[in-house]
Amino acid sequence: MTTASGDGTDKAFYVTTPIYYVNDAPHIGHAYTTVAGDVLTRWHRQRGEKVHFLTGTDEHGQKILQAADAHGMTPQEWCDHMVSTAWLPMLTSIDAANDDFIRTTQPRHTERVQEFWQRLYDQGEVYSGSYTGPYCIACEEFKVPGELIQPGDLCPIHTRPVEMLSETNYFFRLSYYADRLLEAYRSGEIRVEPESARNEVLRFVETGLNDISMSRSTFDWGIGVPWDPAHVIYVWIDALLNYWTAVEGSAEYWPADVHLVGKDILRFHAVIWPAMLMAAGLPLPKLVFANGWLLVGGEKMSKTKLTGIPPQRITDHFGSDAYRYYFLRELQFGQDGSFSWESMAARYQSELGDQLGNLASRLTSMVGRYRDGVLPDAVIDEGIAAAMVTARDDAEAAIDRLDFQSALAAVMTFVRIVNGYVTEREPWKVAKDDSRASELDAILYTTADALRAMAVLLNPVMPKACAKLWQQLGAPGELADARVQKVADEHLPAGSNVVKGDLLFPRLADEGTEA
Ligand code: MSP
Repeated sequence: MTTASGDGTDKAFYVTTPIYYVNDAPHIGHAYTTVAGDVLTRWHRQRGEKVHFLTGTDEHGQKILQAADAHGMTPQEWCDHMVSTAWLPMLTSIDAANDDFIRTTQPRHTERVQEFWQRLYDQGEVYSGSYTGPYCIACEEFKVPGELIQPGDLCPIHTRPVEMLSETNYFFRLSYYADRLLEAYRSGEIRVEPESARNEVLRFVETGLNDISMSRSTFDWGIGVPWDPAHVIYVWIDALLNYWTAVEGSAEYWPADVHLVGKDILRFHAVIWPAMLMAAGLPLPKLVFANGWLLVGGEKMSKTKLTGIPPQRITDHFGSDAYRYYFLRELQFGQDGSFSWESMAARYQSELGDQLGNLASRLTSMVGRYRDGVLPDAVIDEGIAAAMVTARDDAEAAIDRLDFQSALAAVMTFVRIVNGYVTEREPWKVAKDDSRASELDAILYTTADALRAMAVLLNPVMPKACAKLWQQLGAPGELADARVQKVADEHLPAGSNVVKGDLLFPRLADEGTEA
């Protein structure tokens, strides 16, 4: 059953990722934001909320056109090819449960983008003018001359040369919205997080805003400007609208609750996008959260620099659950961090294999050996029950801050506590003494019920392993229906059939975990 989202209305909790450029195939930097969005989504679903999770692809602009040309395809053929062979398969490899996938070449998007801009044009928000400035094609953005890296006038994000671009085109009067934007940040109408991102945006807007060009006329791969067929709509101005066009602007979804974005595209989302919405008289997204970069050798991972690792190379070896767990556990969401095969393998073995997986296999084999696979009747140990409440409360609070690392740390602390409890109680010794049967029952019951709680709390992150665990515990009903809020109030029924199944996180051969 789905209920209303946490705010007491029928509106869905609406989460988005950036839509990804299809000039190239995905790497783990792209998958990172999608995994975070997916875990956030699944967590809210586990609370019983109605949730809507959107991701998709950004298919217009010069960069896509160049990629298509280089491969001898039309831009649309190239986009179709990349979406079906690279971007949709990526979602499968990371086990994303998105509700929708928007492509900016779909009519549901292009038609609404044209309507939106026609309306703004009619209202006088757009005017014709000319502009000359340094442009980075990889960013699809005009740069401020002062931010270029010297010598050589290089883009500070891509460290590659910019081009001087001079165009007569249409401008959106962004400057007009500076004060209203500042007011919206200060009043909390739109929140920008983490703190470093908020400060960056405030500083940027406080110095005043320039109007931005919203059309291009030197190439034609884009959505036509409705009142002037010689122009196409600038790719960013087209792409940002995906969050709104995908849900048809419906009040059931809009405004978005969380836009997850990489820090390099923060200004588009926290400045230009809300200004566009203000101009159209639409409600602003509630939160723009900027995540950091995945670094390789200290630099932003990127395909253009040949440092990109395809997610599938990791999921093929470790599986999607461990992949999802690793990136959210290892890195502080909102800050830069590095991936390494060594740390991935170490976390897999020590936290998933030796802690969680081992606890599950110890419990299921003991219930099999000592109680013929039938969960005995007992009451959960008070200390473990209290630790369960702490894990839930800490994890819930952390998820609300989008602090995935602390949420996982809270649950893994609980896993360690329960492992310690089993080791200390020595059920294998207790089992040898028939007069201590009720003590053994209590240890087995407590451990099984703790594992049930772990399955609920970790299901948003590791759905495959948790489904297995749920089934091994003989837990009643669907795991999807077990509410995170009630995790410490509901308990496994005595008499459940506990089965020893596959190891949740089997030991892996070293092969493939290249240094
Ligand atoms: N198409 C635009 C977004 C439009 S949203 C209306 C775009 N696409 S992108 O494919 O270049 O990047 C998409 C996202 O991937 C961005 O949030 C970017 O920060 C993220 N990442 C790309 N490389 C990354 C890392 N190395 N690390 C973390 N995120 C990275 O920008």
